[in-house]
Amino acid sequence: MPVTSQCRICSGTVQEFIHFGRQPLSDAFLEPDADRDEEFFFQLATGVCDTCRMVQLMEEVPRERMFHADYPYHSSGSSVMREHFEGLAKRFLSTELTGADPFVVELGCNDGIMLKAVAEAGVRHLGVEPSSGVADLAADKGIRVRKDFFQRSTAEDIHATDGPADVIYAANTLCHIPYMESILDGVTTLLGPQGVFVFEDPYLGDIVEKTSFDQIYDEHFFLFSARSVREMAARNGLELVDVERIPVHGGEVRYTLARKGARTPTAAVAELVAEEDARGLSDLATLEAFGANVRKIRDDLVALLRTVRAEGKTVVAYGATAKSATVANFCGLGPDLVSFVCDTTPAKQHMLTPGTHIPVRPPESFSAPYPDYALLFAWNHADEIMAKEQEFREHGGRWILYVPEVHVV
Ligand code: SAM
Ligand code: TMP
Ligand code: ZN
Repeated sequence: MPVTSQCRICSGTVQEFIHFGRQPLSDAFLEPDADRDEEFFFQLATGVCDTCRMVQLMEEVPRERMFHADYPYHSSGSSVMREHFEGLAKRFLSTELTGADPFVVELGCNDGIMLKAVAEAGVRHLGVEPSSGVADLAADKGIRVRKDFFQRSTAEDIHATDGPADVIYAANTLCHIPYMESILDGVTTLLGPQGVFVFEDPYLGDIVEKTSFDQIYDEHFFLFSARSVREMAARNGLELVDVERIPVHGGEVRYTLARKGARTPTAAVAELVAEEDARGLSDLATLEAFGANVRKIRDDLVALLRTVRAEGKTVVAYGATAKSATVANFCGLGPDLVSFVCDTTPAKQHMLTPGTHIPVRPPESFSAPYPDYALLFAWNHADEIMAKEQEFREHGGRWILYVPEVHVV
């Protein structure tokens, strides 16, 4: 019997196409002396809705377990992402935010990586961020932040206080939120008549093309496509009016929604939907083939690591990403195969990775001494990391990557 659940967008039937087994929360790093019996696990599996084609998790993790005061992801850790968001802020400031007293609301503003430039320009803004630790970092930058989950009631409250928004924006946040009906109700409450709701998230098309299965973890509830987002918008009084493929985080799409009829959809929308349909992106057969590719990557990666370890080579990992929780736990990578993971995020350092309990160390540990192999968990930041770690290669070190297939460079 195929495993099914109910679609969070349209109540259709979601049919499972890949199961990763029992997984921990991807950002739940443990203190070295933590009681390991207390660690939280859930069943990580993904399916596709047979009606609206939305790809989504089969099981939902309670939001307070993921987003809280100690949420360890700090957006500003990457210089490439700082430039990315500064560029977007400037674009908003010169396009959507040129009226008399413009107002922009960001969902999941994290440490203020995007709103910093908006605040510096003196434009009215509000970040909505439930993880109070990162929200405090944003407030320290002079950003106005509400420590809260965005949902219908939050939107009503903001609208009553601040009036309508010209831009509602969310990066790597909307796909984290299963309760989409409440979110889109909130958006239609808060958005001005000509306003736009812009969000960018990992793109199903890139995930399938690159077999980047590590984009699937507790926090990534939805894997969006142009087709599923267009359908989701239409069911909620909105319209998908633009799409833009962007290279960050391994391949994302920036979607622009407006009130139905408020703006004319660009040709890019119909083109991307047609391209997805032509390749059968949301067909069960395509997604099951993706599942087979994932299992091959797991087998190849485990075989490679066992071989080099048997040869007495040293292996460390680079970037204690949330994504790597799926890779490490699905492949069974523990400290026997990977000695430690180095990461720039203070909140992750001197902790253990979720489920697999690999120690996390500061980046200085990487060169003391350099390992023979470095498993690049943060492969989406490959250019930035390889550029700053050139000496590792010069010392004879090699990078191991597993997207789109296992290879050594
Ligand atoms: N926008 C940043 C970026 O792109 O780097 C942060 C992305 S981070 C992966 C996701 C953020 O969404 C977290 O900071 C989390 O606390 C926040 N979040 C989760 N649920 C939310 C909700 N209902 N409303 C607003 N923010 C939420
Ligand atoms: P992300 O893939 O979700 O953006 O997470 C990237 C992780 O990698 C984050 O924990 C910070 C870490 N990192 C480094 O340790 N060094 C780096 O140069 C970069 C860009 C990220
Ligand atoms: Zn559906």
